[in-house]
Amino acid sequence: MSDKEFKRLSEFIHTEVGIKLPSSKKVMVEARLQKRLRLLGKAHYRDYYEYLFSPEGLEEELVHLIDVITTNTTEFFREPRHFEIMNEQTLPLWRSENGSGRPFRLWSAGCSTGEEPYTLCIVLSEFAARSPGFRFSVMATDISTRVLSMAKNGVYPEERLAKMSMELKRRYFLRSKDRAKRLVRVAPDIRRIIDFRRLNFMESFAFPEPLDTIFCRNVMIYFDRATQERLLQKFCTQLLTGGFLFIGHSESLTGMDLPLRQHAPTVYRKI
Ligand SMILES: C[S@@+](CC[C@H](N)C(=O)[O-])C[C@H]1O[C@@H](n2cnc3c(N)ncnc32)[C@H](O)[C@@H]1O
Repeated sequence: MSDKEFKRLSEFIHTEVGIKLPSSKKVMVEARLQKRLRLLGKAHYRDYYEYLFSPEGLEEELVHLIDVITTNTTEFFREPRHFEIMNEQTLPLWRSENGSGRPFRLWSAGCSTGEEPYTLCIVLSEFAARSPGFRFSVMATDISTRVLSMAKNGVYPEERLAKMSMELKRRYFLRSKDRAKRLVRVAPDIRRIIDFRRLNFMESFAFPEPLDTIFCRNVMIYFDRATQERLLQKFCTQLLTGGFLFIGHSESLTGMDLPLRQHAPTVYRKI
């Protein structure tokens, strides 16, 4: 891939997906794109580009290109402090302010293969078991259709639950009948709760009902600062006053002009 071709691709990706691809990523992108070229029977990157930028390519290929360039690493109970904060602070606060009049609404934005929204469902279900009348809804979105279908399926290798207590495993997961496969599946009651949808943060979005909590962790890290700030503004319009935003531990809102006040490191409250 020539430098010029890489530049064109990275500009296209930045506009469509918000992800910046510095030239240091060229080798990685080339390696990952090889598989697409092979599958499509394209001999050169320029043939792939011709297809990608054609009306058909924009319709069909963009979704695959997104899968090639996005990083989907995630895990159950990742950054566990956030779940402690929910349990000990934000959920009891919400409950004292809202009682049981309406459901608590949460959005896992950039949910990857589902470990984050399922963890949140577990945390919320445990809270509901201790708080009679507490109801909740969970929406989970991602740009990648590949990770979304894995998330909806809810099947994981057993070792992904290694850090989870026996009690939670028993309550929220089913083991594969074929033990040799060492797979687990999220219990149907939990799978049913989550409304999984495809959403590209670069598009405009508005939900019929505003949210009480948004988790957007380890997604913005791939965006430049202007893109991050625009996205955060959009999150703020979807978040109720008094609602909470959780971001990844390596992300920061410092210096941004947003209607948010820090509640704890990487946890913000809308004002
Ligand atoms: C590293 S994963 C983070 C998963 C989870 N939030 C966590 O912290 O474990 C980042 C996810 O963001 C998604 N993503 C990247 N760009 C996006 C965009 N423009 N719109 C929506 N999702 C995007 C990717 O597909 C990927 O699944």
